[in-house]
Amino acid sequence: MKQSLYAGLLAMTAAFAAHAEAPPTQATTCVACHGAQGQGNPALGAPRLAGQQAEYLLTQLRDFKAGRRGYAAADTHGAQMRAIATTIGDGDQEPLARYFAGLGGTSSTVPAASASQGQALYQGTCGACHGPQAEGFAHLKTPNLRVLDRVYLERQLTAFSDGTRGGEQHGSELAIWMRGIALQLHDDDQRRVLLDYIASP
Ligand code: HEC
Ligand code: HEC
Repeated sequence: MKQSLYAGLLAMTAAFAAHAEAPPTQATTCVACHGAQGQGNPALGAPRLAGQQAEYLLTQLRDFKAGRRGYAAADTHGAQMRAIATTIGDGDQEPLARYFAGLGGTSSTVPAASASQGQALYQGTCGACHGPQAEGFAHLKTPNLRVLDRVYLERQLTAFSDGTRGGEQHGSELAIWMRGIALQLHDDDQRRVLLDYIASP
């Protein structure tokens, strides 16, 4: 019994690995903005998807499609992605999320020994939800922050604090949660040292 369960798991793993190698058809649309390897394109405001948490990518695709993200008129980047997300069939969201999450997952790790102000701030205010290495948690559906570029990170924090993302009327529960945190970061210096720390190579 145990053995057949094990064999079943092995077969599933093999099937999944094989699946992960073949890009879903629609991935060809994504690479125009997010890059051939999902590495992102800061000039277009398109974040890195490679190595991001799959659970998080999936919630974002659903949120864009349902208008829980990219709903604000002033949010041009969000509106762009929302237009794409409406063309993705519900059944294609998960394969796309898994495919991009599985690409080139290596990102730099947070320097463990640096006792900077940014580190203290990160560990005290962000680490519980985004992880000690800012790698994100699948079970909390939180993103890996280490794979993201600084300009994108900063733009998202601003979007959360001004309600362009995570607004009470439109945002998902998770985004509303994150907005509560962003609203507590009102000190520009604090925000700068925090981003210096998260986005450090
Ligand atoms: C026309 C350019 C464009 C195309 C094509 C595009 N995206 Fe995006 N995408 C963006 C931009 C810009 C953002 C950032 C939106 C924001 O700032 O809120 C984004 C954000 C995302 C996010 C959120 C990531 C995060 O860290 O929160 C996901 C997931 C995503 N895109 C997946 C896809 C997938 C999958 C495809 C292909 C089906 C795709 N995108 C095609 C421009 C594009
Ligand atoms: C209570 C848990 C919690 C805490 C604490 C928290 N976050 Fe988040 N954060 C989230 C969740 C959940 C999301 C995903 C929101 C969504 O689905 O739209 C998120 C999303 C983000 C994003 C968007 C990334 C992307 O790919 O678009 C950034 C940037 C971010 N958090 C930065 C921070 C920073 C910096 C701190 C510390 C000051 C912090 N977070 C603290 C839960 C938290």
